[in-house]
Amino acid sequence: MTPSPEPSKCEGLMEKYVAAMVLSAAGDSLGYYNGKWEFLQDGEKIHRQLAQLGGLDALDVGRWRVSDDTVMHLATAEALVEAGKAPKLTQLYYLLAKHYQDCMEDMDGRAPGNASMHNAMQLKPGKPNGWRIPFNSHEGGCGAAMRAMCIGLRFPHHSQLDTLIQVSIESGRMTHHHPTGYLGALASALFTAYAVNARPPLQWGKGLMELLPEAKKYIIQSGYFVEENLQHWSYFQTKWENYLKLRGILDGESAPTFPEPFGVKERDQFYTSLSYSGWGGSSGHDAPMIAYDAVLAAGDSWKELAHRAFFHGGDSDSTAAIAGCWWGVMYGFKGRTTIETWLCHQMPPSLRLLRTNVS
Ligand SMILES: *[C@@H]1O[C@H](CO)[C@@H](O)[C@H](O)[C@H]1NC(C)=O
Repeated sequence: MTPSPEPSKCEGLMEKYVAAMVLSAAGDSLGYYNGKWEFLQDGEKIHRQLAQLGGLDALDVGRWRVSDDTVMHLATAEALVEAGKAPKLTQLYYLLAKHYQDCMEDMDGRAPGNASMHNAMQLKPGKPNGWRIPFNSHEGGCGAAMRAMCIGLRFPHHSQLDTLIQVSIESGRMTHHHPTGYLGALASALFTAYAVNARPPLQWGKGLMELLPEAKKYIIQSGYFVEENLQHWSYFQTKWENYLKLRGILDGESAPTFPEPFGVKERDQFYTSLSYSGWGGSSGHDAPMIAYDAVLAAGDSWKELAHRAFFHGGDSDSTAAIAGCWWGVMYGFKGRTTIETWLCHQMPPSLRLLRTNVS
């Protein structure tokens, strides 16, 4: 009998899938620093403390816990895995609702967002439509975006774009029923799928803009709080258009341009300027935007990515969880041979199935 291929081998695309999940968690724990850095709204102070600790490479992260972002991202991944190879979407929604609710038991010391926590507990996974909640004009936070990346790992193919749109939106509005919230989930998932397909980052923003009319169509078709959703639709779109224009990449062809200088202080000011109410990265539109801005500038440098997306005065663990995931898909465990490779081999088999399930 020929032995079946060793499933724990971390090579090629499998390595990138594992790196996406692990480096997202690594970024989250770095941006969070047990709550100290998520809520420290001064990037220069964070960078000074980072330097005192010896810089990124010297950090002893053994006791740095992951935040609510990673717990909920794993919940999304577990639901996707459990739904199997050819999931009925309603069955998948039931599983997502169940895992979002169950993961709330693991939130001690992880600073869960209010909308995520409150609404996950309202879900009734076993009941028809029990995964749905009403529209709420205050649910534009980043809780939907920070946990949606792996939806792009599961549905990366062009032929699965409709599924990616629907699943990211429905998973998002289980706790964030507001376009600014759940369109952030769409951006997180979509850019992950682009990374799987090795599409260059400077094209991603344009891709998102082209997809928004499809997302809107789905909202109308689904017939659930349509009017409220359309009324609040434009904020996300306008914010993204303005951002892409500013970087000069609305055409999806030109190279991005950054201001000079664009150090820690200037970045903090810029992230604040993108924000809804002064805390950069805490909303559905700007968490993926800041992560994207960091990816555009960092190239294959993990350290540069960290400086821009993990260590700043905004909602740093969420921008980190998103950026870390995209970077992992693009570069795997590039240049890292110790802890990450170990993690790669220790990854729960269920998460490896995420890749195996992709047809
Ligand atoms: C918490 O979230 C729920 C659902 O969005 C909302 O109804 C409630 O007012 C929020 N509470 C606070 C203190 O923000």
